[in-house]
Amino acid sequence: MKISVIGTGYVGLVTGVALSDIGHHVTCIDIDPAKVAKLRSGKPTIYEPGLEELMVKNIEQGRLFFTSEHEEGLKGSEVIYIAVGTPQREDGSANLNYVEQAAIDIATHMTNDVIVVTKSTVPVGTNFHIKEILHQHKQHDIKISIASNPEFLREGSAIKDTFEGDRIIIGTEDPQTADIIEAINAPFNVSVQKTDVLSAEMIKYSSNAFLATKISFINEIANICEKTGANVEEVAKGMGFDKRIGKQFLRAGIGYGGSCFPKDTNALVQIAGNHHYDFDLLKAVINVNNDQQRLLIDKIIDRFGSIEGKQVAVIGLAFKPNTDDIRESPALVIIPELVNLGSNVIAYDPIAIENTKKELTVDIEYTDHLDTALQNADFTVIITDWPEIKHINLKRFEDLMKQPIVFDGRNCYNLDQVKNTTLEYYSIGRPNHIPELIG
Ligand code: UDX
Repeated sequence: MKISVIGTGYVGLVTGVALSDIGHHVTCIDIDPAKVAKLRSGKPTIYEPGLEELMVKNIEQGRLFFTSEHEEGLKGSEVIYIAVGTPQREDGSANLNYVEQAAIDIATHMTNDVIVVTKSTVPVGTNFHIKEILHQHKQHDIKISIASNPEFLREGSAIKDTFEGDRIIIGTEDPQTADIIEAINAPFNVSVQKTDVLSAEMIKYSSNAFLATKISFINEIANICEKTGANVEEVAKGMGFDKRIGKQFLRAGIGYGGSCFPKDTNALVQIAGNHHYDFDLLKAVINVNNDQQRLLIDKIIDRFGSIEGKQVAVIGLAFKPNTDDIRESPALVIIPELVNLGSNVIAYDPIAIENTKKELTVDIEYTDHLDTALQNADFTVIITDWPEIKHINLKRFEDLMKQPIVFDGRNCYNLDQVKNTTLEYYSIGRPNHIPELIG
């Protein structure tokens, strides 16, 4: 099948590469010629484990192409995926400018019948709006069908999630279109649900909103655990044995970030509001997350009172491990606050420093050497549970820091491990470890 993908962000690039790997002829289109030049040489523009190998292989085997020219990229395609960004507007709603432009580009250039598949997360009803644009702008008497095929991949495990996904959702207006999209995806061997367009769009938002709800729920339980003396990890484990609840997404921490949960939860509140429905539960989920992101600051102030002039090691900038994405990362909330409170911050991350520099205006030091960050620190704040942080020998905190005081926003260490050290250790929803020797 000859396929085009518009947009080479996380979703577009991974979709294009994966579709080429299962045998389709795929052209990925991006308006940025510099990006296209890099992609053509087999270099991904995002950090994603396993992506580069697949790109190189499929470019070499003549199935994967990149272009910044719509005419060239769309020519002769039978199926076109829209995978452009839908950033959040000030009011929380999704900005559809890029999606609309993609629809205009498709309509202007297509000369044959085509199926337009939307991968981007778009508010319920948008696919019909896309259909209208396609029909308004088409230049030839061609048949254009639409499909909503939302993406569920996670950053950092995008390739695995695509090849081993839990489900593929295909929302169409007619069974023939659904059958074609199903056939395209057949080699992935993932369960398919064929449904209507509006429900497919809603499945994406409600899935992300539900997962965000699970996280805010366990974070509130963690906060209550701290007050009652219970341990949230024991509680989550006990809850997770119940198959109706499930073990996943019950890790307490300093809140969810990333490009999806914050944006999609806000958008769903908006979508509900547009239909005069007040989504109280989801609003609470968002508020809990906003508070949770600054929880460590409260713990730090409780411990020190003033942190004026203190040297702070901030460990991890990315919103989660295995990605250089810092969008909505708690780091962007915590670091400016630490600086405002007068401390000197040195931040460590293995790959997310460049992205952070573009975003953060406060004056801090950066390092990609963990030991440099820890050296002489008055206290450490763990924001991302990178494997090298989770598996660090705790003695390094003791040896390198001025005082081994650690505020761990990701519960990286088990308390039995910490018990045998001189670490003063504060985590989320678990008892603090304060050795008597340290005052
Ligand atoms: C998410 C969805 O999982 C994916 O299906 C959708 O397509 C896009 O949004 P992603 O944002 O890449 O994917 O990351 P994910 O691994 O789901 O984590 C999201 C955030 O939740 C991270 O900040 C993570 O630290 C946090 N999280 C996750 C928790 O705090 N606790 C958990 O138990 C799980």
